[in-house]
Amino acid sequence: MTDHRRTLIFLATTALIAGLSAAGDPVRAAQTLADATAVWGMESETDGVGRGGALTPVGGEAEFGVSMSDEDRLASRAVGGDGLAVRLNDAALVAGEGIGGALNPTGDQLTVLMRLRNDTENWDLTLLGKHGGHDRLQYNLYSFDRPGDSGAELGFEFYTPDGYHGQRPFVDSFKAGRWVTIVGRYDGAGLDLFVDGRRVASAAASGPLRPSGGQPLVIAGEETGDGSEYIRRFTGLIDHVAIWDRALSTEEIESLSPSGGLSLYDEPHRPQFHFSPERNWTNDPNGLLYHNGRYHLFYQYNPFGDRWGHMSWGHAVSPDLLHWEHRPVALREAGDTMIWSGSAVFDRNNTSGLGSDESGPLVAVYTARKAGPPEVQSQAIAFSNDDGVTWTKYAENPVLDIGHSAFRDPRVFWYEPEQKWVMAVVVATEHKVRFYESKNLIDWSLTSEFGPAGVRDSGLWECPELFELPLDGDPDDTKWILQVSIGKSVSGGTGGLYFVGRFDGDEFVNENPDDLPLWVDYGRDFYALQSFNGIPDADGRRIWLGWANNWVYANEIPTSPWRGSMSIPREVRLVSTEDGPRLTQRPVSELESLRGPAVKLGPCVIDGSSDPLDALAVEGQSFDIELVFEPLDARRFGIRVLESESVCTEIGYDLRLDEMYVNRRHSGDSSFTRDFGDHQWAPLKPGEDGLIRMRILVDRSVVEAFGGDGRAVITSRVFPGPTARRLSLFTDGGSVRIESARIYPMRSVWSTP
Ligand code: FRU
Repeated sequence: MTDHRRTLIFLATTALIAGLSAAGDPVRAAQTLADATAVWGMESETDGVGRGGALTPVGGEAEFGVSMSDEDRLASRAVGGDGLAVRLNDAALVAGEGIGGALNPTGDQLTVLMRLRNDTENWDLTLLGKHGGHDRLQYNLYSFDRPGDSGAELGFEFYTPDGYHGQRPFVDSFKAGRWVTIVGRYDGAGLDLFVDGRRVASAAASGPLRPSGGQPLVIAGEETGDGSEYIRRFTGLIDHVAIWDRALSTEEIESLSPSGGLSLYDEPHRPQFHFSPERNWTNDPNGLLYHNGRYHLFYQYNPFGDRWGHMSWGHAVSPDLLHWEHRPVALREAGDTMIWSGSAVFDRNNTSGLGSDESGPLVAVYTARKAGPPEVQSQAIAFSNDDGVTWTKYAENPVLDIGHSAFRDPRVFWYEPEQKWVMAVVVATEHKVRFYESKNLIDWSLTSEFGPAGVRDSGLWECPELFELPLDGDPDDTKWILQVSIGKSVSGGTGGLYFVGRFDGDEFVNENPDDLPLWVDYGRDFYALQSFNGIPDADGRRIWLGWANNWVYANEIPTSPWRGSMSIPREVRLVSTEDGPRLTQRPVSELESLRGPAVKLGPCVIDGSSDPLDALAVEGQSFDIELVFEPLDARRFGIRVLESESVCTEIGYDLRLDEMYVNRRHSGDSSFTRDFGDHQWAPLKPGEDGLIRMRILVDRSVVEAFGGDGRAVITSRVFPGPTARRLSLFTDGGSVRIESARIYPMRSVWSTP
């Protein structure tokens, strides 16, 4: 029987038998394994399928075809295995270079998988690699003991012309006698490590794999360089090993792993009251629109993976800005043209003529980004006549094309005084916002330009936002706010800048000096914000939300199976200050409906000798916290959240500097970037009553701190992992009076009732 036919029979039986198990996805797993470059099922030395070739045991004993216990067999079959393993006793298995050199991939993609049970405490192992010394090493999966810890470090490494790439996270499920499924993946943009279907590390990486130096692939051991010896050998069971010369999708990896899909929305780092898509990548919020009693959130989305790519518009709707119902992808990439950021409007008067007999359409205005060369970014529209369920791209797209490669992110709204549509759109590389007008959303003419302004070296300008706000709530005294998302902002990396001025339908006039930067958020993780169109006058709020991320590391943050979350929707107001009119932000009041019973404290004085929170046994990872302090002689004071023995995130006030800050230096995993930016601060003076007020949202991996009336805001991502659940109040260098502290545990919006 040929290898190929055998695989299919083996895989088909596997799929049938495993159907009852809750874990993995046996049918999908079988399909994925069927397409591997090589799979070794470990029934015998020669039962490899694909192009891997036979195995040669070296070192101690190797016994193939060992039957697993009933329970282990079921678990094996659920993830595409056959319930038979090889038992190694201080042994390794040499696979060679594969049939026709198949084990020497030289492209820019690779996935390796190994399912094993270590029967010892020794984790100084080379699990699967073409090692042979670092001058030849092609790719390698390995582990290291971490003395004193139960668990071990897991490593994945390889070389490309750019040099060495690797990650080595600590994994606490590495324990004697426990099955683990390990996957290393390289997709040409980055590498990822998964344990039992959960991503444990990521890093950027690119380029084709370095060709092999002729060394064999070794399973459970490492060749020293001259082929004479195999070290770092293994004692335990191996269920199966597989290798692909392509990057598996995260869903495929989940299907091959025991916890796949089991606890969607309860994964480590998964925000509980912030929006994130079920799986895959998201960046900017798009097309924010309130219509017929529902908020629509579209978002930049990659339907196929968890890094940026294939950009399309994902879609969700909500009655209250908190509970989101996922909808099918609204606008998909087609051919070489992606759907980049933009906005959506209700064309009530059917000015576009794209509506139905009964009603005007919803119209999405987005950037059609055609891959080059030459790359062209132009503005296009799509419409929906069924309340946003299905969308049709306009046949005569694009509607606005200046033949530019960085012309994007149209923000469109109805300008009532002149009964016309206005579009703000950027020429990203020139640091300019352009304004256009239109009577029908189809024919656009340029009215003016704004920029550069604010800061000199601002990187790209993206995602403009423009709206009118009453000053101090007075409808007869309004200003216009122009916001741009920029590449180099106050805290490093991407962030937002705003201008306060006048807009007459054609032109924006900044009322501040052009070199005065006003920052939207002083944290590192608030970008590409957009506000909702269509909020009724009776409500009257201006509500925006942003992408809680920073382009510096967005593609590498350690979350799985999704990557990217939105900030909490915030109400934005304009208030008079001694420096002039400034924005304030506060979480929408709807958020309070998720609060559980508060833990309350104060008034009391703390001096650092003890923490009144200790007695209250408050723990968790999702909170809404309101703190009011009266400064005494402590230089710094505040709260630590998401805290364990080794990690915490500190949100505090520094009295000498008049600053609110978020310190995430010891907040958890930041190994995915060399530029996490540990300390973030925002200017904040005590209120007129001398008190310092802070409102802090904590949601597993999102921290949003609002100081005073919300003029100082810091949004910051942290990755502490599930064990960091404590909170503590602190002071530094003296005492502080806690006027009041209210700590509300927050309910999840994702749990099923
Ligand atoms: C901002 C941005 C936009 C672009 C989109 C592409 O984060 O770069 O300028 O339209 O993302 O996904």
